[in-house]
Amino acid sequence: MRIYLKEKIGNPELFTGRKEDLAFFQKWIAGIKKEISKSMAILSRRKTGKTALMQRLYNLTFEQNDGVIPFYYEMKEGQRWGVDFCRDFYLTFIWQYLAFKTRRVEYLYVPSEERLNLAAASAAAQRDGLGYLANAVASMAQLFDEAGLDTIWLAVRDAPFTLATSQREFIVQMFDEFQYLNSEIYRDQACQHLASNFAGGYMSTAEYRNAPLLVSGSWIGWLRGMLHTLLPSRFRQYELENIPEDEALEMVFRYSQIMDVPVSEDVAYALAKASEGNPFYISSLFESPCKAKDFTTQEGLLNTLEYETLNERGQIRSVWMEYLYKVFYKVNEVNAKNMLLYLSKHQDREISRKELLDALHLPMTESELEQKLRALLKSDLIEQGRSNFYYRGVQDNIFDKVFRGMYADDIQAFDPQEITNEYKALYAQAKQEYQALLGRYNQTKGLFAEFAIINHLRLRAHREQERFRAMIRNLPEDFAFVEYESVWSYKTARPDKNDIAIDLFARAGEDAYSIIGEVKNRDTTAFSKEETLEFIRKVQILQERESVGKALLFVFSRHGFTADALTEFQASGIAYSDDERWLENS
Ligand SMILES: Nc1ncnc2c1ncn2[C@@H]1O[C@H](COP(=O)(O)OP(=O)(O)O)[C@@H](O)[C@H]1O
Ligand SMILES: [Mg+2]
Repeated sequence: MRIYLKEKIGNPELFTGRKEDLAFFQKWIAGIKKEISKSMAILSRRKTGKTALMQRLYNLTFEQNDGVIPFYYEMKEGQRWGVDFCRDFYLTFIWQYLAFKTRRVEYLYVPSEERLNLAAASAAAQRDGLGYLANAVASMAQLFDEAGLDTIWLAVRDAPFTLATSQREFIVQMFDEFQYLNSEIYRDQACQHLASNFAGGYMSTAEYRNAPLLVSGSWIGWLRGMLHTLLPSRFRQYELENIPEDEALEMVFRYSQIMDVPVSEDVAYALAKASEGNPFYISSLFESPCKAKDFTTQEGLLNTLEYETLNERGQIRSVWMEYLYKVFYKVNEVNAKNMLLYLSKHQDREISRKELLDALHLPMTESELEQKLRALLKSDLIEQGRSNFYYRGVQDNIFDKVFRGMYADDIQAFDPQEITNEYKALYAQAKQEYQALLGRYNQTKGLFAEFAIINHLRLRAHREQERFRAMIRNLPEDFAFVEYESVWSYKTARPDKNDIAIDLFARAGEDAYSIIGEVKNRDTTAFSKEETLEFIRKVQILQERESVGKALLFVFSRHGFTADALTEFQASGIAYSDDERWLENS
């Protein structure tokens, strides 16, 4: 797919998985055209991939170009004068709208002098034959000159809805860091008087089904509270979970490929396991500056985990530390730390308020304690237990270690060796599981097989033509391996029958053969004719969608092929192999 709005994730190929979530939201976005989709809020702990998901949704919606216009806006941290904010918000919308309607991506990247100029936006709309838009922007410009902040905010806030209604169009409004709308915007240029309830304005706006909102933010407890009190029942909540294990493993392989950090299979599994499906942990481990980083050995992974957890330069530690400082500043509470430590020490069970009071000799009443705990809950540093009376530490083993490491000095007899040992134990367990898995799940084995073949195609096949050609049968005369522009599996997330997954897609330049492949690493079943026909169907969709020129269709099946399938391969010119050397790691 193409990327239109730049994504924070960086290389767009890094984006992995989220299959279910993408399918859910694409269906929700498609539902906007039927006016059945109600505004939603994505809630999850920080760094679980909300921004990545929303930005990908923007680009998918832009690409599909199927009657829903995407608008993405990030409310930023930092004090701002309301009028400046309104101008930025409104013009971001207008340029994005214009880009979508004209299919001209450069409108998403207008330089800021022009971008923040209402007259320039109006002129651009006029040039592109969107007279109604040019007029709307011109009247908005007048409003900016004449009206007060509240009137301006009302007008720009409703602009997407108003435009959608008058043009009989549909718009999805995605707002990231929504909570800042109520804490960063000021009524005066000197930023003395907070505009305390800009978000409340959405009370009515968020109810219209032709331009619903999808909001998210990284202060999730705070956002949840805000939605609850200021915008009651205007938003359906969606809990974004950590990613499932198979997607985590795929993410590890993908980061390994793209960032050129080799991994071995058992270490890849342990890494995915240690990350507990948190994409931020995976990306941070790959980006880690740790000198001993080496994901082909157990020690290399353990060293990197420890570095990221305990070293000041570790990204994981820094991110959590920055967050904790902000929370402790807000909560303003010395005891908060001790409570967190106590909950962390007793991870495995829920703790009552009474126990906390007694164990920590807290100089406060139970209802005062409840207030403090509520603040910690709101910051997402602890979890609610089975009732209002019970609490527990967050179930995140890396966070827990970072936290203990940071406040090591406060803990009597804290020994960093403890953390080393815990990681070791975690590794040992992962290793055991990995071995059991190898015997059990074809899907995981399939993923490893894909990964091994992809590696060969990326790194070796073009240098060792003879060796690799000998590992494939039914190759066309003029076939040669080349250095591919990209090699990866191809997955779309579409809410229709054209949702396809191709195990292997090596894209070649102009005249060379691209390779489109199917990989089966099964112990018992041979690849059948039905599977061949299904593969051909998927390839046609891919070729059309990605405009692939010359392509070699290739099936790898470790357990061989049925006679029917082989006949079909001959008829359709499909290359095939059951040579296990494709699965070797080097
Ligand atoms: N689907 C994904 N595939 C690959 N990496 C991801 C994915 N989602 C998140 N990440 C990684 O995790 C980091 C945190 O994600 P982000 O979207 O910023 O989280 P949030 O917005 O929930 O705080 C990103 O910088 C990115 O490196
Ligand atoms: Mg975010």
